[in-house]
Amino acid sequence: MKTIGDLGDLRGKRVLVRSDLNVPLEQTDQGTTITDDGRIRASAPTIKMLSEMGARVIVCAHLGRPKGEPDPKYSLAPVARRLGDLLGTPVTFAEDTVGERAKAAVEALEDGGVVLLENLRFNAGETAKTDADRAEFAEALASLADIFVSDGFGVVHRAQASVYDVARLLPHATGGLVEAEVNVLRRLTRDPERPYAVVLGGAKVSDKLGVIGNLLGTADRLLIGGGMVFTFLAAKGLEVGRSLLESDQVDTVRGYLERAEQEGVEIVLPVDIVVADDFSADAAHDVVAVDAIPADRMGLDIGPQSAALFASKLADCRTVFWNGPMGAFEMEPFAAGTKALAQALADVTSDGALTVVGGGDSAAAVRQLGFADTDFGHISTGGGASLEYLEGTELPGLTVLDDDDDDISVSGPVSGSGSTSDGAAAGSGASD
Ligand code: 3PG
Repeated sequence: MKTIGDLGDLRGKRVLVRSDLNVPLEQTDQGTTITDDGRIRASAPTIKMLSEMGARVIVCAHLGRPKGEPDPKYSLAPVARRLGDLLGTPVTFAEDTVGERAKAAVEALEDGGVVLLENLRFNAGETAKTDADRAEFAEALASLADIFVSDGFGVVHRAQASVYDVARLLPHATGGLVEAEVNVLRRLTRDPERPYAVVLGGAKVSDKLGVIGNLLGTADRLLIGGGMVFTFLAAKGLEVGRSLLESDQVDTVRGYLERAEQEGVEIVLPVDIVVADDFSADAAHDVVAVDAIPADRMGLDIGPQSAALFASKLADCRTVFWNGPMGAFEMEPFAAGTKALAQALADVTSDGALTVVGGGDSAAAVRQLGFADTDFGHISTGGGASLEYLEGTELPGLTVLDDDDDDISVSGPVSGSGSTSDGAAAGSGASD
């Protein structure tokens, strides 16, 4: 994979950067507020670097899952303002993605200037399933730029126009964020320092089956919490009351429990649970033993003994990956398990272990609970992407960057690119 350093002199070049700026928003009477700007902060250094190199930087990104047409509640306008604050220079916001406004904004860019295009997913071609259906939109995007930089780690598992197809149309390089994320995740998959523990939480076990299957071959310990734990408890024959349960996954999970035993992987499940009458912050709640969940109540967090058990299982680890909260942490009465887990990770980080917090939700959780990014070795900006990486799946947004059989040089013309490249990047020295 080429990196930005391989692109040579970028002064005056139009560089299209795919970032992941998919941040949580809250609509209030005062307008829209970004509740966690972690992904914008993580994306800013690459954009700043390109700008300082004199490139004309065209940032593209998605927000949420609009239905392939403009929807004001998913506009990236608030993100443009925040990005400008973080960069310390104004960011022009183009009110469409590849239309007249985008073209005019790109045309008006000066060397070092930055424009953010409106939400990619306001265009049906971005997420279309077939290559043919994505082609026109990908070509329109590519025609805005001379070079493509892939820096949206959170979307590299998506074969979407701005992630995959554009990289096939333009000379391309990996941005600093994708490079850093891949370097860390590689350490987890290639000979991690042991003991290596993986903590999984979040609502759905079905989202994590692939990664659990793969981890049984690499991790020493698997700690399970969050809503998904009730499918594990049911697989062990326990009653889970009105807790989240994926009945159709119970047999698969039972198979994993058996495989873990054969392969010597320790699966650590909670020993107590915070149960509540309802899924609400003011619901009556108690701590019960894991084998005493009342039929009419639902589990919303791991209990204090489980939190202590999990911390003790992490204390001697040299490598830890964590994805998914331990409970409904957004509600104060059910946040203690997630907070204790984050503290255990912070402690083992200060003892020198490599710790990785994976995913937008887990990252937002640790920040909301008052932890600093520096309390952990690495906070990944990609939830689904980091899980798929650990699962061993091919990620289209990464393989396409590797696929340099055409050996595109940024100093040469790009055949069939649809690019309106206006000249050569002198002395690119592009190489893998
Ligand atoms: C994420 O939030 O994980 C990324 O931004 C990808 O978003 P998506 O799951 O809607 O593709």
